[in-house]
Amino acid sequence: MHANPVNGALKKPPLKVLLLENIHQTAIETMTKEGLSVESVPKSLPKDQLIARLAGVQILGIRSKTHLTAELLASAPSLQAIGCFCIGTNQVDLSAANRLGLPVWNAPFSNTRSVAEMIISEIIALARQLGDRSREVHVGKWRKVASSCFEVRGKTLGIIGYGHIGSQVSVLAEALGMRVVFYDIIPKLQLGNSQPCDSLHELLRVSDFVTLHVPATPQTQWMIGPDELAAMKKGSYLLNASRGTVVQIGALCQALRSGHVAGAAIDVYPEEPEENTDSFVTELAGLPNVILTPHIGGSTQEAQASIGREVAQSICKFVAQGATTGSVNFPQVELPLSPGTHRILNVHKNVPGVLRDISRVVSELNANIHSQMLSTDEQIGYLIMDLDQDVSAQVRDGISGLPTSIRTRIL
Ligand code: NAI
Repeated sequence: MHANPVNGALKKPPLKVLLLENIHQTAIETMTKEGLSVESVPKSLPKDQLIARLAGVQILGIRSKTHLTAELLASAPSLQAIGCFCIGTNQVDLSAANRLGLPVWNAPFSNTRSVAEMIISEIIALARQLGDRSREVHVGKWRKVASSCFEVRGKTLGIIGYGHIGSQVSVLAEALGMRVVFYDIIPKLQLGNSQPCDSLHELLRVSDFVTLHVPATPQTQWMIGPDELAAMKKGSYLLNASRGTVVQIGALCQALRSGHVAGAAIDVYPEEPEENTDSFVTELAGLPNVILTPHIGGSTQEAQASIGREVAQSICKFVAQGATTGSVNFPQVELPLSPGTHRILNVHKNVPGVLRDISRVVSELNANIHSQMLSTDEQIGYLIMDLDQDVSAQVRDGISGLPTSIRTRIL
């Protein structure tokens, strides 16, 4: 994909991109190749410095440490789009960005495979008590035991939440010879020989390993508590790399102490430290055959590289074509470029009569609309319009002058 050659966008001064927080090189490469001028800063910036640095910047890339408040966004008038080079977008006031006509992208699926691989490794590690054996040898203990150690081949893996990660785990687990069952609240395509369960309790009853891959929602909050743990097979294992609010840690500790649950691998916690330098305490610490990791399920070099590429590609497509597909806070519009046309992009307040006013501006300037696409949400409408003649600057000025217009750009 190249910046719109039809409309000569490459001749314009390159848009300026500011990337904060040491975003992966793949993002810089992808955007530079598309003709953008990229500046990368290794850390997040304090608010005042960030506001100063944003002058003249059209694209801002951040990770989780940069907080973009409504006030900060309003103080950066040249900004056109924001990339969150991570999974979460809580650090951005998405509604304010929407009102200001700023689409925001993230990379929701770039670390799917990394999480799935970690889960597979932990299933085997739990079955063989590898965490405990390793800890013992580190302190000079030699406990060569085979009791309560198993192969995973032929065992049943129960996957709760058969979305992107759950279904990847399913494929990998079957390759190990496991039998896979899953439970989801919406009907899902069964991959390989996996079988859906009618209820959560049915899955808990038949599974040797239970792994959670659900989002944090009111329904999934504390969904694994004393009753669910009691419904699990005696001697089975629980894995949670989804969200910390899904499992009641106190109840899990009890089930582990009683031996009803034979082991657990936990990557996420109800409360997690903000910084690597913060200390962390959990009731699970020290329990036998419990693998505890600091929310690293998706943390691999490949995932970082993939996040850099995925978000940068979304932004390049927006710059070159105005496409907002995949944006987390914006009406989704994507219209293929047609040769010989002139594209105008307009974000406006979603109030009645806007399209009529825009069409009037276009027809008064004797321009013909070759094609157009509009999508709206509660607050705004986003319009892509291709005109058959080069009157775009006049049309842009006319449309920008409408009281309902928030932002207008020609490619
Ligand atoms: P996804 O949206 O693709 O899949 C989630 C699935 O859960 C969907 O199929 C959905 O229908 C299902 N679901 C929702 N509510 C349910 C319920 N009450 N019972 C059963 N199923 C339910 O999400 P994805 O990408 O697979 O991620 C899953 C989880 O993993 C998310 O919580 C995400 O935050 C977490 N995650 C954790 C990482 C880590 O580093 N540990 C990294 C990446 C994601």
